[in-house]
Amino acid sequence: MNLEQIAESAPLSENVDSVVRFTNVDYSHPNGVPALRGISVEFKKGELVGILGANGAGKSTLVRHINGILKPTHGSVEVFGESTKNTSAAKLSRRVGIVFQNPNNQLFAQSVKSEIEFGLRNFGFDDELVRQRTDWALNTFSLIEYSNRAPMELSGGEKKRLCNALVLAWDPDIVILDEPTVGQDSEQKERLAQLVKLLLSEQKTIILVSHDMEFLWPLQPRMILMSGGKILADGTAQQVVRDRVSFSHANILAPQLVELFTELGDLGRFPADEFEARDKIRLQMTAAKEK
Ligand SMILES: Nc1ncnc2c1ncn2[C@@H]1O[C@H](COP(=O)(O)OP(=O)(O)OP(=O)(O)O)[C@@H](O)[C@H]1O
Ligand SMILES: [Mg+2]
Repeated sequence: MNLEQIAESAPLSENVDSVVRFTNVDYSHPNGVPALRGISVEFKKGELVGILGANGAGKSTLVRHINGILKPTHGSVEVFGESTKNTSAAKLSRRVGIVFQNPNNQLFAQSVKSEIEFGLRNFGFDDELVRQRTDWALNTFSLIEYSNRAPMELSGGEKKRLCNALVLAWDPDIVILDEPTVGQDSEQKERLAQLVKLLLSEQKTIILVSHDMEFLWPLQPRMILMSGGKILADGTAQQVVRDRVSFSHANILAPQLVELFTELGDLGRFPADEFEARDKIRLQMTAAKEK
């Protein structure tokens, strides 16, 4: 193969791990409200993506295209190489698990346990696997004590946790969590962050739609900022927090650690968490003493 041929084949090999591809997608809701405008974006296997933006920016509308509940008005969405126009949401759901922003749209069973079991049976898991995966989900999301409770009688935060549990129970390849930290206390948020890391180590593609910058920042995801149905910025967390213009357009506050180090005039790599911040400060103090 000569150099020209290698150059030509490069984009193809780059796309090998692409699991979701939006090409020039516009979407208007049935009432005519335009919610997505000219979206072209790609998500890869094993990638962690945070989608941020003001209320009404189009975040939920965008992720609902990935499991085919919504189909583009113009343009195309391909998931695992197949256009969502040719596949049903029911079929895509096995591999694309989405936890909706509003838990009441996802819960209907008589008990917490049967809510989780229902999804698994629906996808044809055998009895033993249904038992194993249900136990895993109840344990992982601290829901054992609620097993026999009615889902609709749980608190808002508990309902959200149940939705996260029931979708992750069926082990989808693409995990989409729309506002997963709403109503979660600090212990549950920490558990969720650990779980995200575990799922990433299993090469899942994880898309987190969230206003909770302090939750997203330590995970250092690829960040996508949305406003008015468009993508304003797309890059590493470190790159995107430097784009102050897009940040203010998207109505997003920078993480506290970024604000602090910017204030201190240190615009190098921003620390992802307090441990990295401490190491950075110690290094600077040692360097200052040695001067
Ligand atoms: N079912 C619907 N019917 C009509 N318009 C809708 C519907 N759902 C959302 N919209 C409109 O589409 C636009 C995008 O909404 P979307 O729910 O995607 O925003 P979002 O970024 O997820 O906001 P939030 O942060 O509030 O969750 C908004 O203008 C919204 O009012
Ligand atoms: Mg939303």
